Amino acid sequence: MSIRTNYEKWYDQDEYYWGLKPGDFLNELIGLCPPSNDKKVLDIGCGEGKDAVYMAQKGYSVTAFDLTDNGIRKTLKLAKDRNVRIHAYTDDINTFETNERFDIIYSTGTVQYLFEENKKAFFEKIRRITKPDGVVYFNVFVEKPFLTLPPDWDLEEKMWKTGELFTFFPDWKIERLDEVIFEDMSGGIKHFHCMDTVICRKVDL
Ligand SMILES: C[S@@+](CC[C@H](N)C(=O)[O-])C[C@H]1O[C@@H](n2cnc3c(N)ncnc32)[C@H](O)[C@@H]1O
Repeated sequence: MSIRTNYEKWYDQDEYYWGLKPGDFLNELIGLCPPSNDKKVLDIGCGEGKDAVYMAQKGYSVTAFDLTDNGIRKTLKLAKDRNVRIHAYTDDINTFETNERFDIIYSTGTVQYLFEENKKAFFEKIRRITKPDGVVYFNVFVEKPFLTLPPDWDLEEKMWKTGELFTFFPDWKIERLDEVIFEDMSGGIKHFHCMDTVICRKVDL
C-alpha cells in the first residue's frame, strides 16, 4: 500500500490521528517571528492541521498543504470549528510551486518523503520563498548504526544523514541546531528515533 493510501486511511475518521496538541516548536517560532495579520506562514505536510490552525489562531495568515485529501478536509474542518480562515490544499512536497513569499515556513515529520533527487531544488525553493528576516523550521529523521529502523517505517520514507539538513542554510543565522534521540511507541513497539532539527533566519542584508 502506498504511503498516501495509508495516511488517507488513518485520517479517514473523526478522531485526529496526531491529536490536537500543537507542536512544541511552534511557540519558539512565534517568539522568533511574532504574529501580525500581514505575516504569512507555510506549513508543509500539515497532516490534519493541528499546527496550521494553531498558527492561524495566533493571528498569522496561514497556507498549508499535505499529500492527503482527508488531511486537508480535516484541516479545513478544524479551522472552521475554531473560527479561523486558512488556505489549505493537497500538494506534494516533491513538486509544489508557489508565487507567494512567507515569514515562517515549517515542516515537521514530512521531509523524509522528499526524494533524494529533489532535495537541492526543494531547499533552493525554500530559501527563495522565505521573506527577508523570515524564519524556517525543519526536522528530519537521521540514521545511526546503533538504531534499528522503526517498526512502522515505510519504504517511501528516507532516512537522512546526520548534519545533512544543516548544510542547506550555511549563510543564514542559526537560531537552533540540534540532534536528539527519543523513544517512540508508534506501531505499538518501543523504538528510538534520531532527529535533526534546524531553525534559522534569512538575515536581511
Ligand atoms: C508524520 S505526519 C506529520 C503531519 C503534521 N505535520 C503533524 O505534525 O501533525 C507526515 C505527513 O506528511 C504527509 N506527506 C507524506 N508524503 C508527502 C508528500 N510527498 N508531500 C506532502 N505531504 C506528504 C502525510 O500525508 C502526513 O500528513
